[in-house]
Amino acid sequence: MKKIEQAKQILQENWRDGFTIPTSRLYPFQWMWDSGFVSMGTSEFNLKMSLTEIAKMFTGQWDNGMLPHILFHSEIEKTYFPNYDFWECWVNQGASLNPKTSGITQPPVYGFVLADILQKHWNKPDVKDFVRHIYPKLVHYHSFLYNYRDPHSEGLFYIFHPWESGRDNSPLWDESMDQIEITPGAIPEYTRRDTSIADASERPTQQKYDRYVYLLELGKKYKYDGHQIAEESPFLIQDNMMNAILIKSNESLIEIASDLGLDAGQVKEWQALSTANYDNKFWSDELDTYVGYDLRHEKQMKHREIGGFVPLFASIPSDDKATKLNDYLQSLSARGYYLVPSFDVDSPLFDSRRYWRGPIWPQMNWMIYKGLKNYAFDDTAKMVKDDLIHLIENLGFHEYFEAQKVVADGLTKGYGGNNFSWTASSYIHLCSVD
Ligand code: DGY
Repeated sequence: MKKIEQAKQILQENWRDGFTIPTSRLYPFQWMWDSGFVSMGTSEFNLKMSLTEIAKMFTGQWDNGMLPHILFHSEIEKTYFPNYDFWECWVNQGASLNPKTSGITQPPVYGFVLADILQKHWNKPDVKDFVRHIYPKLVHYHSFLYNYRDPHSEGLFYIFHPWESGRDNSPLWDESMDQIEITPGAIPEYTRRDTSIADASERPTQQKYDRYVYLLELGKKYKYDGHQIAEESPFLIQDNMMNAILIKSNESLIEIASDLGLDAGQVKEWQALSTANYDNKFWSDELDTYVGYDLRHEKQMKHREIGGFVPLFASIPSDDKATKLNDYLQSLSARGYYLVPSFDVDSPLFDSRRYWRGPIWPQMNWMIYKGLKNYAFDDTAKMVKDDLIHLIENLGFHEYFEAQKVVADGLTKGYGGNNFSWTASSYIHLCSVD
């Protein structure tokens, strides 16, 4: 079977009742940013699936606007921890109860997702109607980030849990996480499910899991109220990648509003604030890349990692800064890495197998490809696209991939879950562009 047909088949097989699971067993529910990337892929061959997926995501929106990172559409599915009964999202009065959800969010991708689908299906009135219907809900979601997650009104929102960043166990979070002391009784007993499904050496460690649970409990203690969490959380970070994604999605909302005659006044105000503060907060002259900001300890987090390239996607960097990011990617390729490793290959914390500590992630290549195109770095964009296509064609539709060429070329499969939805979606998407 041709690879593209295989990709579509994976998406069809991962389809449940109105949404796509990332992969069976390991992730058996609807994940927020996965769903966004998946709906762009399905929109290439089955528009109905794509729009249904997005509509389903918004069924889990909270009264405060939050889009949760997981919607537990099935309450009988037991292969995942932490499940809905552990999150207890109902402690928050405005939480969604049907479906039950987690109590945290994920990268705000839906602005650019909607814009992508609208652009591809511009001649279809029902798509325009759909976008008009979702638009205010999406503005409401962005208002959650600005109103509940931005204590200094900088236009840059914070996260209090690594799972919100999507880059769960990136070494970026180690310093804050390692400061959390787990004393006896500090967290309830729990049983991990992921390591009985995926190879434990490719998943976050137990030390990290205890701290994920600690932060989840902290959220629960404050009824998932962003203002109170900001007072106490030992993990309080403004992530440069998520804020770049917010800026990209704001820009998309502004474009959508202009195309469809909707009001974007509030979004424009947010966007002006976010873009005015982004570079000062996140650019590191020392490393020539964008880095995160630790709001609890008031300092930049000086690491090179994959989120540093995402501002290209939102057209944030000046040409000079963009050139530095591009030169670095070129140098990595010349040194024998497939693009784009998720963490600094020269750091002792780089781990080429373990989740977000080194491997390549399909949806990241998709965003970085688009970002490089924004600046006409066509050669590097082609590498980012071709490397991913090559890895998928040789190692299968896995969750993530080895970045060291000599190692990857000797493997027979990728890492993490298999028949993975956003891998299939990114493949379809990248095969459709030049
Ligand atoms: C997991 O379970 O590993 C997810 O990434 C958290 O949402």
